Amino acid sequence: MRRRMLVVGNWKMHGSIAFAVDLAKTVVDASCNFASMDIAICPPHVLLGVVGTQLGGSEVALGAQTVSEFAEGAYTGETAASMLAELGCKFVIVGHSERRHLFGETNDIVAAKAAMALAAGMTPIICVGERLEDRKNGTTRTVIGEQLRPFMEPPGIDTLRQAVIAYEPVWAIGTGETATPKEAQDVHNFIRSSIAVVDKSISDTIRILYGGSVKPDNAPDLFRMTDIDGSLVGGASLKADDFLLICGSTQPN
Ligand code: 13P
Repeated sequence: MRRRMLVVGNWKMHGSIAFAVDLAKTVVDASCNFASMDIAICPPHVLLGVVGTQLGGSEVALGAQTVSEFAEGAYTGETAASMLAELGCKFVIVGHSERRHLFGETNDIVAAKAAMALAAGMTPIICVGERLEDRKNGTTRTVIGEQLRPFMEPPGIDTLRQAVIAYEPVWAIGTGETATPKEAQDVHNFIRSSIAVVDKSISDTIRILYGGSVKPDNAPDLFRMTDIDGSLVGGASLKADDFLLICGSTQPN
């Protein structure tokens, strides 16, 4: 059976209060057209409050782009999972490639963040993906296998049971380049099969999103792939029309 599709907008470090209110309201107003799928939007932390107010009572979920791996304390500039949950976040992106490569987040830090999100009642969206040189060297599977490693044994496996995975090839992020549907499906299938080795029930139910220059014109073909259960959308999530077209592409023809 087809898993329920999920489309998540990752606004990254874009927007203002006025922009956020307007975009969130437009998405909420259209969301009644998408009853058979799930939608979430992840604004920058400082905009979570105003966006959460717009989403209140709607089916569109609020998500955060990262979370601290610490519960609370003297960690200047960090945001605790409990604070995000209190603002109404249902999802937290962890291990986005920009966090891994620009801010030095290791696989173990990503696992700690995912566990924090889950302990606060939120669903972690665990991002994995290879760089261009990994793909050229033929090490895509090794790199992704290593990124998944902390989630393949206790206690990480318990996090995985309630998580979402996002496959985001780094070379396709913000570049306009997209993995072909077949390239994406191959990696999604590799991820699902790797999980099946340790827990078949998780592999059957976990949603694996594709991210990397998803646009209205390439979304339908990506969503036709059996192991692609939605997308994590960057640039196109900042344009209401494009984001809603992508959401609409998840509906069976
Ligand atoms: P783009 O859709 O802009 O390529 O970004 C993808 C991404 O990083 C989503 O998290």
